[in-house]
Amino acid sequence: MQPRVLVTKRVYPEAIEFLTQHAEVDYVSDDDGLSPAELLERARGKNAIVSQLVDKFTRDVIAQLDSSVRIIANVAVGFDNIDVAAASERGILVTNTPDVLTDTTADFAFALLMAAARRVVEAHEFAHSRKWGRWTIDMLVGQDVHHRTLGILGMGRIGQAMARRGTGFAMQVLYHDAVQLPCDAEYSSKERVLQESDFVSLHVPLSEATRHYIGEAELRMMKPSAILINTSRGPVVDEATLVRALREKWIGGAGLDVFENEPRVNPGLLECANVVLAPHIGSASVDTRRGMSMIAVENAVEAIEGRRPKTLLNPGVWDSIASRRGA
Ligand code: 8YV
Repeated sequence: MQPRVLVTKRVYPEAIEFLTQHAEVDYVSDDDGLSPAELLERARGKNAIVSQLVDKFTRDVIAQLDSSVRIIANVAVGFDNIDVAAASERGILVTNTPDVLTDTTADFAFALLMAAARRVVEAHEFAHSRKWGRWTIDMLVGQDVHHRTLGILGMGRIGQAMARRGTGFAMQVLYHDAVQLPCDAEYSSKERVLQESDFVSLHVPLSEATRHYIGEAELRMMKPSAILINTSRGPVVDEATLVRALREKWIGGAGLDVFENEPRVNPGLLECANVVLAPHIGSASVDTRRGMSMIAVENAVEAIEGRRPKTLLNPGVWDSIASRRGA
């Protein structure tokens, strides 16, 4: 019997073509996705699940998955939607899609930074408004980016790619992470990054330790002119407090691609002129989204055909599968 794979949401067509060469595919080809109950129902009898960030694999959901499920292959680098520990306990492999989206996401973080600093969206709206009657010396003046200080919180792959972009703009780059890295950026405390940076860009993964990593204390430490950029996960920032910070001008502005309750955007943010908002499109280039789709389905095929998937998050599960096989 052919292995069976559930794809929970639309991916690039090449990925489905590849999968159908290796498995029977149950493809949820629309964009609405599945409720937790539908997800469990459709997952019955499957050997692999190709998932996306909206699919919540909590401990409870994982406990109810059929024992036939060998892998959850997430189409994202972030995997806060999956309880990896619970999956590991059940012997289910979990994979993500790192690397392919690193530069694409850093490009977008830098685009938000530039847009917020130089008021690109306001300028676009003004040029479209037909209200542009005359040129004035201080029309839509913003902040310089070059030669200023970029602070990076979370110096993983995307944080490092952001640092390279800052260096290209002759910025001083400070960073904070749990570990120090051999790189051109200067390692600093979280407090110093917040206090001294003109732009603070968030690149920490979401976990219980980083939920509301930026709250009132952190926002009050930032310069009144500073701009906060978030392309990681919404709950890393206490959004209600960020709205206050923007309204009351504790900080100068923000560029946000992610939100605490996506796809809902806090109405307070919609009212702030000093923010640039995007609907979670950090990795959204054609090549990258296609690449992410392919990596996820390749991981699923590796697992169902008994090979180690390349971007495995719980290698211990593979080791125990391999040692059982060897025994
Ligand atoms: C994706 C992301 O847009 O990879 C991630 O973690 O947040 C984004 O690249 C999204 O997850 C696609 O499912």
